[in-house]
Amino acid sequence: MIKRIGILTSGGDAPGMNAAIRAAVRTAIAADVEIYGIRDGYLGLHQDRISRMNTLDVTNIIGRGGSILGSARFRAFEEESVRREAIENLRKREIDSLVVIGGDGSYTGALRLTEMGFPCIGVPGTIDNDVHGTDFSIGFDTALNTIVECIDRLRDTSNSHKRVNIVEVMGRHCGDLCVSAAIAGGADFAIVPEQPFDSAALFRSISQAFAAGKRHGIVALCENITNAELLANDIEGNTGIECRATVLGHIQRGGVPSAQDRILGSRLGELAVKLLIDGIGGQCVGIVNGELTHNGIAESIKSLPRKFDAKLAALPLRLA
Ligand code: F6P
Repeated sequence: MIKRIGILTSGGDAPGMNAAIRAAVRTAIAADVEIYGIRDGYLGLHQDRISRMNTLDVTNIIGRGGSILGSARFRAFEEESVRREAIENLRKREIDSLVVIGGDGSYTGALRLTEMGFPCIGVPGTIDNDVHGTDFSIGFDTALNTIVECIDRLRDTSNSHKRVNIVEVMGRHCGDLCVSAAIAGGADFAIVPEQPFDSAALFRSISQAFAAGKRHGIVALCENITNAELLANDIEGNTGIECRATVLGHIQRGGVPSAQDRILGSRLGELAVKLLIDGIGGQCVGIVNGELTHNGIAESIKSLPRKFDAKLAALPLRLA
């Protein structure tokens, strides 16, 4: 019987993580289970920065971006000795299970802890939407809306100056954010890691669009493929049309969570705690076709990263 649960957020923060924390805390307390917040992810777990949470700690947080617990990337957690010390910090408080909100790296940590006899539940929290076992991760919807707003702004100035604007978005190695933003932002071209980048097709499509009288062009570029500034130079060189590059960077990771992310975070946070209370660990929760679900963490991190929705890929080009 689970008595005390720990909770942490790890890796890149994502809007909606606070909704998940709030739901987890409230669900635990309603079930008479103590819950402990761990600062700054696995780093704080190793450094023993852990304190009990009550409902007042999670009041007025549902509309806040980031994570009230703080987050970190902590490579040393790959070492078994470091994990053993972290488990010791939990055991001495009689904390017997852990909710980990984060992306693939955080899931790996949760799996290792579970393998060492410490049950964990993973909750998908990353703007990249690159986690298996769920159609959507917490933060994706908010980041997407932020990016689309930025594209709308870029299109205004692009149109005034008769230019092409490249907008580089995050996603690490998953094109979901990029291709979704390209469609919702009316971009002319999307460059994603899942597909080979055909620069000749890009130059051709821009030249044809401007020759037909178009006054602006938007190219959505997923990070880690090519340098946005160099690509802007190439576009200018090959089309004769002025081009500017904007790297959105961490702007797209902050801000007020969308209603979707608040709801998703709340549902997944609640489910995570319920599973632990039912004695189920080593799972990650998700939403598939609108239904809450859970799968083994080991399964979900077997083939990383989750790929984008291929059905969407050709749409920006077709609609350009
Ligand atoms: O994992 C989320 C993410 O925002 C990725 O999209 C991006 O590549 C990375 O984190 C950036 O990491 P950091 O915040 O450590 O610079």
